[in-house]
Parts: sequence; C-alpha cells; structure tokens
Amino acid sequence: MKEKELIEKAIEAREFSYAPYSGFKVGAALEGADGEIYQGCNIENAAYTPCNCAERTALFKAVSEGKRKFKKIAVVGWSAQEEKAKDYCPPCGVCRQVLREFVNPKEFQIVVAKDIVDYKVYTLEELLPESFGPENLQ
Ligand code: THU
Repeated sequence: MKEKELIEKAIEAREFSYAPYSGFKVGAALEGADGEIYQGCNIENAAYTPCNCAERTALFKAVSEGKRKFKKIAVVGWSAQEEKAKDYCPPCGVCRQVLREFVNPKEFQIVVAKDIVDYKVYTLEELLPESFGPENLQ
C-alpha cells in the first residue's frame, strides 16, 4: 500500500483512541506482508501503567490473528483539542522494540506523518540502531 493510503488508515484508527488521561490521540496502520492492514489506537487506563500505544495495539491484533510478517507501519498522533497534527509522532522505545521482534530492521518502514502530504519514512534500524532481537538468543 502507498504511504498516503496507509496514513489515511492511521488517521481513521486515531478516531477510536481512548485517551482520557493524556488527551493525546494516536492511530497506527500496520501493513502485513500479504497486504492486509491492521489498525490500532492508543488505549489508556485509570491505573496509567497499563496504557497501550497505537502501534502495539495494531501489532498485537495482527499477531493474534496469525500474522508474523510485516512491511510497514504508519503512525499519527495529536491532541484531542487540536484539529490536526503540529508534529510527527514517532513510535516510543517500547513499540520500536516490540516491532523489532517480528521484522527485519533494515527493511521494515516506519511512516511518521502529520497528514497525507507531510510525512517522513524511516527504517526500523534507523530508529532503533544496534538492536537486540531473536537472533541474539541463538
Ligand atoms: N502513544 C502512542 O500510542 N504511540 C506513540 O508512539 C507515542 C505515545 C500514546 C501513549 C499515551 O496513550 C499517549 O500517546 C501519550 O503518551
């Protein structure tokens, strides 16, 4: 899927964000190797610690449905109070590591977008250099 289309899916997913504590709504759209799209939003919790990011929601949905190969993910995030993003929303460190488990860091792409025309594309390796992954345990 083209970047623009994947970003649209992430913006759509953001609508379902449950973020009553931070007020920061995030959406992600993850493309599987077979072209299937998995959407995710952040899901917060009154106990704070159990908050789940949009990227992990999308990935866990996919893995729980038997998918383990992925091409790229688009991420958008901005305050519920604002109409559009002022900044990019790069994945947090935990999400980078969780994605690392299932992808080739040199190939997997992360699209961080303000909107469908203003976005940047990184490989996971660029955002998580010298990473620790399954091969390190072999
Ligand atoms: N958040 C995400 O969903 N993804 C990110 O990459 C950054 C942060 C969420 C977590 C929390 O619900 C809110 O944004 C504020 O940190």
